[in-house]
Amino acid sequence: MNRQVTILAIETSCDETAAAVIRGGRTIISNVVASQIDEHRRYGGIVPEVASRQHILTIDAVLHEALRPLPSGWNDIHAVAATYGPGLAGALMTGLNVAKAIAWIRELPFVGVNHIEAHIYANWLLTDAQPEAPAPQFPVVALVVSGGHTLLALLEGHGRYRLLGQTRDDAAGEAFDKVARLLGLGFPGGPAIQRAAEGAPGGVVLPRAWLRDSYDFSFSGLKTAVLHQIRDYQAREAALQPGTGKSAGKRGVGAPSTPPEATATPHLPPTVVARLARAFQESVVDVLVTKTVEAARAFGAAEILLAGGVAANLRLREELNRRAPVPVRVPPVALCTDNAAMIGAAAFYRFDAGIQHGWDLDVQPNLALDG
Ligand code: KG4
Ligand code: ZN
Repeated sequence: MNRQVTILAIETSCDETAAAVIRGGRTIISNVVASQIDEHRRYGGIVPEVASRQHILTIDAVLHEALRPLPSGWNDIHAVAATYGPGLAGALMTGLNVAKAIAWIRELPFVGVNHIEAHIYANWLLTDAQPEAPAPQFPVVALVVSGGHTLLALLEGHGRYRLLGQTRDDAAGEAFDKVARLLGLGFPGGPAIQRAAEGAPGGVVLPRAWLRDSYDFSFSGLKTAVLHQIRDYQAREAALQPGTGKSAGKRGVGAPSTPPEATATPHLPPTVVARLARAFQESVVDVLVTKTVEAARAFGAAEILLAGGVAANLRLREELNRRAPVPVRVPPVALCTDNAAMIGAAAFYRFDAGIQHGWDLDVQPNLALDG
């Protein structure tokens, strides 16, 4: 393993334009992330066309910033890497094509990286807080929870994955974002729900979709349960208003007539929002932690690795640490959400195993973990 190999990595799979320089797979020389969140906030979610355009406008400046700490600039780079999937096709295309162009012009090896695998490899990166941390020990069980993905995987070695389970509907982060919208909490929903839930009283308990004998997850029923709680609350309130009680807030038995994601419900009192935010967060955390702990026991994991944007959630970290039978590793928040440092880490171990890609590598918006 060549610890001096220095990789320039690019990430543009969703709404962050990012570039990083990583040495030996673990040392961060630079890590630059330009978030587009303000561009998307006004739409209440990510607009693919806006994302692609922003990547094109931003990538040049982000790259130059990432190269700045290198004494010999481009000459210090040994390989170029970029995410090729999963993600938004137009967004992925920007970073992948820029990376291939750089590699071609500078006659450098090129490595395509799987975004989900890279989230897991954020756990290999050294940080100022723990500059000497040993690398994770295999076998590891990894829980990847992001805006687009929720899965449990067993890693028996570099590049040796077994997918244990994944979400059958919404990703955990997507559920946070949709429920935040229902509660009128804005975007992105994860941090907003975490804030609203802080110090909220208990009392409301929402269902958990256990999907027995499976490591799969499901969060869409939970989202609907929140919607029903909101409608029940509104119906009770309306019943107290003379003259409006009979019709307001009524719903039929079964599925609501409008899809939950289409329904924003502002004007709920902060106490109701806080209780529901807490109940929702507790339900998600309980299912994620229970399944991860079961998998770690069943497969004799030496460590549990947490990854993805939802790994920033403090209750998830706290509960996993409390219940895990083996050490839990979680990257710092800035390395949990999308960044290029994790792409550089994943690329290093692939490159070290002799993997390189040709110019024909295309974007794969639906790339699987073992794809
Ligand atoms: O990994 P990521 O940056 O992007 C994807 O690849 O999807 O994850 C973004 C997701 C969003 O859904 C956001 O709401 C969620 O991570 N998130 C959180 C928290 N911070 C970000 N979810 C729960 N609690 C948080 N503190
Ligand atoms: Zn991600």
